[in-house]
Amino acid sequence: MTKSGDKLVSRDGHSLPLARRKAVLGADALEITPVPPVTGAYSYDPGYASTASCTSRITFVDGEGGVLLYRGYAADDLARHSNFAEVSWLLLNGELPSHTELQSFSEELAGLRHCAPEVLDTIAAVPAGAHPMSTMTAALSAMPAVYPECTDPDDADHRRRFSHRVIANIATVAAAAYRKTIGKPAIAPRKDLGYAANLLYMMFGEEPNPVASRALDTLLVLHADHEQNCSTSTVRIAGSSGVNPFSALAAGCIALWGPAHGGANEAVIQMLEEIGATENIGEYVARAKDPGDSFRLMGFGHRVYKNFDPRATIICGICHEVLQELKTGRGRLFTLARQLEEIALSDSYFKDRRLYPNVDFYSGIIYRALGLPATMFTPMFAVGRTVGWAAHWCEMHTDPEARIGRPRQLYLGPTARSYLPVGER
Ligand code: CMC
Repeated sequence: MTKSGDKLVSRDGHSLPLARRKAVLGADALEITPVPPVTGAYSYDPGYASTASCTSRITFVDGEGGVLLYRGYAADDLARHSNFAEVSWLLLNGELPSHTELQSFSEELAGLRHCAPEVLDTIAAVPAGAHPMSTMTAALSAMPAVYPECTDPDDADHRRRFSHRVIANIATVAAAAYRKTIGKPAIAPRKDLGYAANLLYMMFGEEPNPVASRALDTLLVLHADHEQNCSTSTVRIAGSSGVNPFSALAAGCIALWGPAHGGANEAVIQMLEEIGATENIGEYVARAKDPGDSFRLMGFGHRVYKNFDPRATIICGICHEVLQELKTGRGRLFTLARQLEEIALSDSYFKDRRLYPNVDFYSGIIYRALGLPATMFTPMFAVGRTVGWAAHWCEMHTDPEARIGRPRQLYLGPTARSYLPVGER
Protein backbone atom coordinates (compact mmCIF):
# COMPACT_ATOMS: atom_id res chain seq x y z
CA MET A 1 0.00 0.00 0.00
CA THR A 2 1.55 3.34 -0.98
CA LYS A 3 0.55 6.86 -0.10
CA SER A 4 -0.21 9.24 -2.92
CA GLY A 5 -1.52 12.65 -1.86
CA ASP A 6 -4.45 11.94 0.42
CA LYS A 7 -5.12 8.62 -1.25
CA LEU A 8 -4.02 5.18 -0.33
CA VAL A 9 -3.49 2.67 -3.11
CA SER A 10 -4.63 -0.81 -2.19
CA ARG A 11 -2.99 -4.07 -3.18
CA ASP A 12 -5.25 -4.53 -6.18
CA GLY A 13 -4.40 -1.06 -7.45
CA HIS A 14 -7.61 0.69 -6.42
CA SER A 15 -7.02 4.12 -5.02
CA LEU A 16 -8.97 5.10 -1.95
CA PRO A 17 -9.57 8.79 -1.21
CA LEU A 18 -9.05 9.63 2.44
CA ALA A 19 -10.92 12.49 4.09
CA ARG A 20 -8.53 15.05 5.54
CA ARG A 21 -9.60 16.61 8.83
CA LYS A 22 -8.12 20.10 9.08
CA ALA A 23 -6.31 21.01 12.26
CA VAL A 24 -6.53 24.56 13.59
CA LEU A 25 -2.80 24.30 14.43
CA GLY A 26 -0.31 21.55 13.64
CA ALA A 27 -0.74 18.50 11.46
CA ASP A 28 -4.05 17.58 9.84
CA ALA A 29 -5.35 14.04 10.22
CA LEU A 30 -6.38 11.56 7.56
CA GLU A 31 -9.44 9.49 8.37
CA ILE A 32 -8.30 5.89 8.06
CA THR A 33 -11.51 4.20 9.21
CA PRO A 34 -12.38 3.16 5.61
CA VAL A 35 -8.91 1.69 5.00
CA PRO A 36 -9.21 -1.80 6.59
CA PRO A 37 -12.43 -2.80 4.78
CA VAL A 38 -10.95 -1.85 1.40
CA THR A 39 -7.34 -2.93 1.86
CA GLY A 40 -7.78 -5.77 4.33
CA ALA A 41 -5.05 -4.20 6.48
CA TYR A 42 -4.93 -2.16 9.66
CA SER A 43 -2.56 0.74 10.20
CA TYR A 44 0.37 -0.37 12.35
CA ASP A 45 1.67 2.36 14.64
CA PRO A 46 3.52 1.19 17.76
CA GLY A 47 3.22 3.74 20.55
CA TYR A 48 0.54 5.56 18.46
CA ALA A 49 3.30 7.96 17.40
CA SER A 50 1.51 8.78 14.12
CA THR A 51 -2.09 8.41 15.26
CA ALA A 52 -4.52 11.14 16.30
CA SER A 53 -6.79 9.24 18.67
CA CYS A 54 -9.33 12.02 19.17
CA THR A 55 -10.10 15.63 18.41
CA SER A 56 -9.32 18.04 21.22
CA ARG A 57 -9.57 21.77 21.91
CA ILE A 58 -7.60 21.88 25.14
CA THR A 59 -3.84 21.91 24.62
CA PHE A 60 -1.55 22.27 21.63
CA VAL A 61 2.10 21.21 21.48
CA ASP A 62 4.42 22.16 18.63
CA GLY A 63 7.40 19.93 19.20
CA GLU A 64 9.56 21.56 16.53
CA GLY A 65 8.93 25.10 17.72
CA GLY A 66 8.98 24.30 21.45
CA VAL A 67 5.46 25.73 21.84
CA LEU A 68 2.91 24.69 24.46
CA LEU A 69 -0.51 26.36 24.44
CA TYR A 70 -3.31 25.89 26.96
CA ARG A 71 -6.57 26.84 25.24
CA GLY A 72 -4.46 29.07 22.98
CA TYR A 73 -2.47 30.80 25.73
CA ALA A 74 1.29 30.17 25.95
CA ALA A 75 1.98 28.01 29.01
CA ASP A 76 5.12 30.02 29.78
CA ASP A 77 3.05 33.23 29.87
CA LEU A 78 0.57 31.57 32.19
CA ALA A 79 3.40 30.18 34.32
CA ARG A 80 4.86 33.65 34.76
CA HIS A 81 1.67 35.68 35.19
CA SER A 82 -1.24 33.43 36.15
CA ASN A 83 -1.72 30.82 38.86
CA PHE A 84 -2.88 27.23 39.20
CA ALA A 85 -6.51 28.06 40.08
CA GLU A 86 -6.91 30.34 37.07
CA VAL A 87 -5.23 27.82 34.75
CA SER A 88 -7.48 25.07 36.10
CA TRP A 89 -10.54 27.13 35.22
CA LEU A 90 -9.11 27.88 31.79
CA LEU A 91 -8.40 24.23 31.01
CA LEU A 92 -11.80 23.09 32.24
CA ASN A 93 -13.89 25.85 30.68
CA GLY A 94 -11.98 26.99 27.62
CA GLU A 95 -11.79 30.70 28.54
CA LEU A 96 -10.04 32.73 31.21
CA PRO A 97 -12.35 33.46 34.16
CA SER A 98 -13.69 36.91 35.00
CA HIS A 99 -12.59 38.34 38.33
CA THR A 100 -15.82 37.15 39.99
CA GLU A 101 -15.62 33.70 38.42
CA LEU A 102 -12.04 33.25 39.57
CA GLN A 103 -12.87 34.39 43.08
CA SER A 104 -15.84 32.07 43.45
CA PHE A 105 -13.98 29.15 41.82
CA SER A 106 -10.99 29.63 44.17
CA GLU A 107 -13.35 29.81 47.16
CA GLU A 108 -15.21 26.72 46.01
CA LEU A 109 -11.94 24.77 45.62
CA ALA A 110 -10.78 25.93 49.07
CA GLY A 111 -14.11 24.79 50.54
CA LEU A 112 -13.74 21.34 48.96
CA ARG A 113 -10.21 20.69 50.27
CA HIS A 114 -11.29 18.43 53.13
CA CYS A 115 -11.42 14.78 52.02
CA ALA A 116 -14.19 12.50 53.25
CA PRO A 117 -13.02 10.49 56.31
CA GLU A 118 -13.30 7.25 54.28
CA VAL A 119 -10.67 8.57 51.86
CA LEU A 120 -8.31 9.43 54.71
CA ASP A 121 -9.01 6.00 56.25
CA THR A 122 -8.02 4.40 52.94
CA ILE A 123 -4.73 6.32 53.00
CA ALA A 124 -4.11 5.32 56.61
CA ALA A 125 -4.76 1.67 55.70
CA VAL A 126 -2.17 1.31 52.90
CA PRO A 127 0.83 -0.76 53.97
CA ALA A 128 3.74 1.13 55.51
CA GLY A 129 6.38 1.62 52.83
CA ALA A 130 3.82 2.01 50.01
CA HIS A 131 4.95 4.48 47.37
CA PRO A 132 2.79 7.64 47.59
CA MET A 133 1.69 7.08 43.96
CA SER A 134 0.20 3.77 45.12
CA THR A 135 -1.49 5.54 48.00
CA MET A 136 -2.92 8.24 45.75
CA THR A 137 -4.29 5.60 43.39
CA ALA A 138 -5.92 3.80 46.33
CA ALA A 139 -7.47 7.07 47.53
CA LEU A 140 -8.84 7.84 44.04
CA SER A 141 -10.24 4.31 43.87
CA ALA A 142 -12.13 4.88 47.14
CA MET A 143 -13.73 8.12 45.94
CA PRO A 144 -16.62 6.84 43.76
CA ALA A 145 -18.05 5.16 46.86
CA VAL A 146 -17.99 8.36 48.90
CA TYR A 147 -18.78 10.92 46.20
CA PRO A 148 -21.56 9.23 44.17
CA GLU A 149 -22.87 12.67 43.15
CA CYS A 150 -19.73 13.07 40.98
CA THR A 151 -19.71 9.80 39.07
CA ASP A 152 -22.11 9.94 36.10
CA PRO A 153 -20.17 10.68 32.89
CA ASP A 154 -23.36 11.66 31.07
CA ASP A 155 -24.51 14.28 33.55
CA ALA A 156 -23.00 17.78 33.15
CA ASP A 157 -23.50 18.57 36.86
CA HIS A 158 -21.71 15.37 37.85
CA ARG A 159 -18.84 16.20 35.50
CA ARG A 160 -18.45 19.71 36.91
CA ARG A 161 -18.75 18.53 40.53
CA PHE A 162 -16.23 15.77 39.85
CA SER A 163 -13.68 18.14 38.29
CA HIS A 164 -13.82 20.62 41.17
CA ARG A 165 -13.87 17.90 43.82
CA VAL A 166 -10.89 16.01 42.42
CA ILE A 167 -8.76 19.13 41.83
CA ALA A 168 -9.41 20.25 45.42
CA ASN A 169 -8.98 16.82 47.01
CA ILE A 170 -5.95 15.58 45.12
CA ALA A 171 -3.61 17.97 46.99
CA THR A 172 -5.01 16.79 50.33
CA VAL A 173 -4.54 13.19 49.20
CA ALA A 174 -0.94 13.82 48.06
CA ALA A 175 -0.05 15.53 51.35
CA ALA A 176 -1.68 12.74 53.41
CA ALA A 177 0.18 10.15 51.29
CA TYR A 178 3.43 11.92 52.18
CA ARG A 179 2.53 12.07 55.89
CA LYS A 180 1.83 8.35 55.74
CA THR A 181 5.38 7.70 54.45
CA ILE A 182 6.82 9.43 57.52
CA GLY A 183 4.39 7.69 59.88
CA LYS A 184 2.52 10.89 60.71
CA PRO A 185 -1.23 11.69 60.59
CA ALA A 186 -2.68 13.88 57.85
CA ILE A 187 -2.85 17.61 58.49
CA ALA A 188 -6.22 19.25 57.81
CA PRO A 189 -6.23 21.75 54.93
CA ARG A 190 -6.50 25.50 55.48
CA LYS A 191 -8.94 27.60 53.50
CA ASP A 192 -7.01 30.83 53.87
CA LEU A 193 -3.94 29.69 51.92
CA GLY A 194 -3.50 29.51 48.16
CA TYR A 195 -3.56 26.09 46.46
CA ALA A 196 0.21 25.49 46.45
CA ALA A 197 0.84 27.12 49.84
CA ASN A 198 -1.85 24.92 51.41
CA LEU A 199 -0.33 21.83 49.81
CA LEU A 200 3.06 22.59 51.35
CA TYR A 201 1.37 23.42 54.64
CA MET A 202 -0.46 20.07 54.70
CA MET A 203 2.86 18.29 54.14
CA PHE A 204 5.07 20.11 56.60
CA GLY A 205 2.65 21.70 59.09
CA GLU A 206 4.00 25.22 58.75
CA GLU A 207 3.27 28.14 56.49
CA PRO A 208 5.71 27.98 53.59
CA ASN A 209 8.07 30.66 52.33
CA PRO A 210 6.19 32.59 49.58
CA VAL A 211 9.01 31.85 47.12
CA ALA A 212 8.48 28.13 47.74
CA SER A 213 4.70 28.45 47.25
CA ARG A 214 5.14 30.47 44.09
CA ALA A 215 7.66 27.94 42.70
CA LEU A 216 5.32 25.03 43.41
CA ASP A 217 2.38 26.90 41.90
CA THR A 218 4.41 27.51 38.72
CA LEU A 219 5.36 23.83 38.55
CA LEU A 220 1.69 22.86 38.90
CA VAL A 221 0.79 25.22 36.05
CA LEU A 222 3.51 23.76 33.82
CA HIS A 223 2.39 20.21 34.54
CA ALA A 224 -1.35 20.91 34.21
CA ASP A 225 -1.81 19.43 30.74
CA HIS A 226 0.15 18.11 27.80
CA GLU A 227 -2.38 16.88 25.23
CA GLN A 228 -2.53 13.13 24.53
CA ASN A 229 0.41 11.98 26.69
CA CYS A 230 0.55 8.45 28.12
CA SER A 231 -1.43 9.11 31.33
CA THR A 232 -4.04 11.34 29.68
CA SER A 233 -4.56 8.79 26.92
CA THR A 234 -4.94 6.18 29.66
CA VAL A 235 -7.60 8.30 31.36
CA ARG A 236 -9.39 8.61 28.03
CA ILE A 237 -9.16 4.89 27.23
CA ALA A 238 -10.31 3.85 30.73
CA GLY A 239 -13.01 6.54 30.73
CA SER A 240 -14.23 5.52 27.27
CA SER A 241 -15.71 2.38 28.84
CA GLY A 242 -18.07 4.60 30.84
CA VAL A 243 -16.35 3.92 34.16
CA ASN A 244 -16.65 6.62 36.84
CA PRO A 245 -14.07 9.42 36.51
CA PHE A 246 -12.23 8.76 39.78
CA SER A 247 -11.38 5.26 38.52
CA ALA A 248 -10.37 6.63 35.11
CA LEU A 249 -7.99 9.03 36.90
CA ALA A 250 -6.65 6.21 39.08
CA ALA A 251 -5.67 4.48 35.81
CA GLY A 252 -3.99 7.69 34.67
CA CYS A 253 -2.13 7.96 37.96
CA ILE A 254 -0.71 4.48 37.47
CA ALA A 255 0.40 5.32 33.92
CA LEU A 256 2.07 8.51 35.13
CA TRP A 257 4.11 6.67 37.73
CA GLY A 258 6.40 4.91 35.21
CA PRO A 259 9.96 6.22 34.73
CA ALA A 260 9.44 6.91 31.01
CA HIS A 261 6.64 9.34 31.98
CA GLY A 262 6.08 11.23 35.26
CA GLY A 263 8.32 8.90 37.25
CA ALA A 264 11.29 10.43 35.42
CA ASN A 265 11.57 13.32 37.90
CA GLU A 266 12.31 10.88 40.73
CA ALA A 267 14.68 8.92 38.48
CA VAL A 268 16.60 12.11 37.54
CA ILE A 269 17.52 12.83 41.14
CA GLN A 270 18.51 9.20 41.71
CA MET A 271 20.67 9.40 38.58
CA LEU A 272 22.31 12.68 39.64
CA GLU A 273 23.02 11.30 43.11
CA GLU A 274 24.53 8.21 41.50
CA ILE A 275 26.71 10.26 39.14
CA GLY A 276 27.82 12.21 42.18
CA ALA A 277 30.61 14.31 40.66
CA THR A 278 31.58 16.01 37.40
CA GLU A 279 34.31 13.51 36.62
CA ASN A 280 31.75 10.67 36.46
CA ILE A 281 29.45 12.33 33.90
CA GLY A 282 31.37 10.90 30.91
CA GLU A 283 30.84 7.34 32.12
CA TYR A 284 27.05 7.82 32.40
CA VAL A 285 26.80 9.58 29.04
CA ALA A 286 28.72 6.67 27.48
CA ARG A 287 26.30 4.21 29.11
CA ALA A 288 23.29 6.16 27.81
CA LYS A 289 24.72 5.92 24.29
CA ASP A 290 25.52 2.21 24.50
CA PRO A 291 22.81 0.22 22.67
CA GLY A 292 23.69 -2.79 24.83
CA ASP A 293 22.98 -0.90 28.07
CA SER A 294 19.36 -0.17 29.04
CA PHE A 295 20.42 2.95 30.97
CA ARG A 296 19.02 6.22 29.59
CA LEU A 297 19.72 9.79 30.64
CA MET A 298 16.63 10.42 32.69
CA GLY A 299 14.92 13.76 32.05
CA PHE A 300 16.23 13.72 28.48
CA GLY A 301 14.27 13.21 25.27
CA HIS A 302 10.62 13.56 24.41
CA ARG A 303 8.24 11.97 21.94
CA VAL A 304 7.03 15.35 20.70
CA TYR A 305 9.63 18.01 21.59
CA LYS A 306 12.51 17.74 19.13
CA ASN A 307 14.02 21.12 19.79
CA PHE A 308 13.53 22.13 23.40
CA ASP A 309 10.86 21.61 26.02
CA PRO A 310 9.58 25.10 26.93
CA ARG A 311 8.67 23.85 30.39
CA ALA A 312 12.29 22.83 31.08
CA THR A 313 13.52 26.33 30.23
CA ILE A 314 11.21 27.98 32.77
CA ILE A 315 11.87 25.35 35.40
CA CYS A 316 15.62 25.79 35.04
CA GLY A 317 15.10 29.53 35.69
CA ILE A 318 13.01 28.85 38.81
CA CYS A 319 15.78 26.57 40.10
CA HIS A 320 18.14 29.55 40.32
CA GLU A 321 15.60 31.63 42.24
CA VAL A 322 14.53 28.90 44.64
CA LEU A 323 18.04 27.72 45.44
CA GLN A 324 19.16 31.27 46.11
CA GLU A 325 16.16 32.17 48.27
CA LEU A 326 15.93 28.98 50.28
CA LYS A 327 19.70 28.49 50.64
CA THR A 328 19.16 24.78 51.14
CA GLY A 329 22.61 23.75 50.00
CA ARG A 330 21.14 21.75 47.10
CA GLY A 331 23.09 23.79 44.54
CA ARG A 332 25.48 20.86 44.03
CA LEU A 333 22.90 18.79 42.15
CA PHE A 334 21.86 21.80 40.08
CA THR A 335 25.47 22.45 39.06
CA LEU A 336 25.87 18.78 38.18
CA ALA A 337 22.65 18.85 36.15
CA ARG A 338 23.84 21.92 34.21
CA GLN A 339 27.16 20.21 33.49
CA LEU A 340 25.42 17.01 32.37
CA GLU A 341 23.13 19.03 30.10
CA GLU A 342 26.09 20.85 28.55
CA ILE A 343 28.05 17.66 27.92
CA ALA A 344 25.05 15.78 26.48
CA LEU A 345 24.01 18.67 24.24
CA SER A 346 27.46 18.87 22.69
CA ASP A 347 27.50 15.13 21.97
CA SER A 348 26.50 14.00 18.46
CA TYR A 349 24.45 11.06 19.85
CA PHE A 350 22.05 13.47 21.60
CA LYS A 351 22.27 16.12 18.88
CA ASP A 352 21.47 13.67 16.06
CA ARG A 353 18.51 12.20 17.94
CA ARG A 354 17.37 15.65 19.05
CA LEU A 355 17.31 14.73 22.72
CA TYR A 356 16.98 17.74 25.02
CA PRO A 357 16.22 18.15 28.73
CA ASN A 358 12.50 17.71 29.33
CA VAL A 359 10.13 18.96 32.05
CA ASP A 360 11.43 16.38 34.51
CA PHE A 361 15.12 17.23 34.26
CA TYR A 362 15.15 20.19 36.65
CA SER A 363 11.82 19.86 38.51
CA GLY A 364 13.22 17.37 41.04
CA ILE A 365 15.93 19.85 42.05
CA ILE A 366 13.24 22.38 42.96
CA TYR A 367 11.13 19.81 44.80
CA ARG A 368 14.25 18.82 46.74
CA ALA A 369 14.92 22.43 47.66
CA LEU A 370 11.33 22.67 48.91
CA GLY A 371 12.07 19.78 51.25
CA LEU A 372 10.25 17.00 49.40
CA PRO A 373 11.67 13.47 49.31
CA ALA A 374 12.18 11.96 45.85
CA THR A 375 9.12 9.70 46.20
CA MET A 376 6.91 12.82 46.32
CA PHE A 377 8.10 14.25 43.00
CA THR A 378 5.77 12.19 40.80
CA PRO A 379 2.81 12.82 43.16
CA MET A 380 3.39 16.57 42.65
CA PHE A 381 3.26 15.97 38.89
CA ALA A 382 0.01 14.03 39.44
CA VAL A 383 -1.52 16.92 41.41
CA GLY A 384 -0.86 19.31 38.53
CA ARG A 385 -1.89 16.84 35.79
CA THR A 386 -5.19 16.06 37.56
CA VAL A 387 -6.59 19.20 35.94
CA GLY A 388 -5.66 18.02 32.46
CA TRP A 389 -6.98 14.52 33.15
CA ALA A 390 -10.31 15.98 34.32
CA ALA A 391 -10.54 18.37 31.35
CA HIS A 392 -9.87 15.56 28.86
CA TRP A 393 -12.29 13.19 30.55
CA CYS A 394 -15.02 15.88 30.39
CA GLU A 395 -14.20 16.72 26.78
CA MET A 396 -14.40 13.06 25.77
CA HIS A 397 -17.81 12.68 27.36
CA THR A 398 -19.22 15.59 25.37
CA ASP A 399 -17.67 14.50 22.06
CA PRO A 400 -20.31 12.92 19.79
CA GLU A 401 -17.54 11.09 17.88
CA ALA A 402 -16.01 9.45 20.99
CA ARG A 403 -16.17 5.65 21.03
CA ILE A 404 -14.81 3.05 23.37
CA GLY A 405 -11.01 2.83 22.93
CA ARG A 406 -10.33 -0.51 21.34
CA PRO A 407 -7.19 -0.74 19.14
CA ARG A 408 -6.55 -3.68 16.84
CA GLN A 409 -3.36 -5.73 16.51
CA LEU A 410 -1.06 -7.42 14.04
CA TYR A 411 -1.32 -11.02 15.23
CA LEU A 412 1.96 -12.98 15.16
CA GLY A 413 1.05 -15.94 17.43
CA PRO A 414 0.34 -19.57 16.52
CA THR A 415 -2.35 -20.50 14.02
CA ALA A 416 -5.34 -22.55 15.26
CA ARG A 417 -4.28 -25.91 16.70
CA SER A 418 -5.98 -28.79 18.50
CA TYR A 419 -5.87 -29.16 22.23
CA LEU A 420 -4.56 -32.47 23.57
CA PRO A 421 -5.12 -33.41 27.22
CA VAL A 422 -1.94 -33.42 29.30
CA GLY A 423 -1.43 -37.22 29.21
CA GLU A 424 -1.64 -37.33 25.40
CA ARG A 425 0.95 -34.62 24.61
N1 CMC B 1 18.92 8.67 26.85
C1 CMC B 1 19.57 8.02 25.86
N2 CMC B 1 19.04 7.74 24.65
C2 CMC B 1 17.76 8.11 24.45
C3 CMC B 1 17.01 8.78 25.44
C4 CMC B 1 17.63 9.06 26.67
N3 CMC B 1 16.96 9.69 27.64
N4 CMC B 1 15.77 9.03 24.96
C5 CMC B 1 15.74 8.51 23.72
N5 CMC B 1 16.95 7.98 23.40
C6 CMC B 1 17.34 7.38 22.11
C7 CMC B 1 16.75 5.99 21.93
O1 CMC B 1 17.61 5.00 22.44
C8 CMC B 1 16.57 5.92 20.45
O2 CMC B 1 17.85 5.70 19.88
P1 CMC B 1 17.99 4.80 18.53
O3 CMC B 1 17.27 5.61 17.47
O4 CMC B 1 19.45 4.69 18.31
O5 CMC B 1 17.30 3.50 18.82
C9 CMC B 1 16.16 7.35 20.07
O6 CMC B 1 16.74 8.19 21.08
C10 CMC B 1 14.66 7.59 20.01
O7 CMC B 1 14.10 7.18 21.28
P2 CMC B 1 12.68 6.49 21.47
O8 CMC B 1 12.72 5.65 22.68
O9 CMC B 1 12.26 5.84 20.19
O10 CMC B 1 11.77 7.76 21.69
P3 CMC B 1 10.31 7.76 22.28
O11 CMC B 1 9.63 8.93 21.70
O12 CMC B 1 9.65 6.43 22.10
O13 CMC B 1 10.51 7.96 23.85
C11 CMC B 1 10.93 9.04 25.93
C12 CMC B 1 10.44 9.21 24.49
C13 CMC B 1 10.62 10.32 26.69
C14 CMC B 1 10.17 7.89 26.59
C15 CMC B 1 12.46 8.75 25.92
O14 CMC B 1 13.14 9.85 25.38
C16 CMC B 1 12.99 8.44 27.32
O15 CMC B 1 12.93 7.28 27.74
N6 CMC B 1 13.52 9.46 28.06
C17 CMC B 1 13.98 9.25 29.42
C18 CMC B 1 12.80 9.24 30.38
C19 CMC B 1 12.20 10.62 30.57
O16 CMC B 1 12.89 11.60 30.79
N7 CMC B 1 10.85 10.69 30.53
C20 CMC B 1 10.09 11.91 30.74
C21 CMC B 1 9.45 12.37 29.48
S1 CMC B 1 8.82 14.07 29.56
C22 CMC B 1 7.58 14.11 30.76
C23 CMC B 1 6.56 13.07 30.69
O17 CMC B 1 6.11 12.64 29.65
O18 CMC B 1 6.13 12.67 31.76
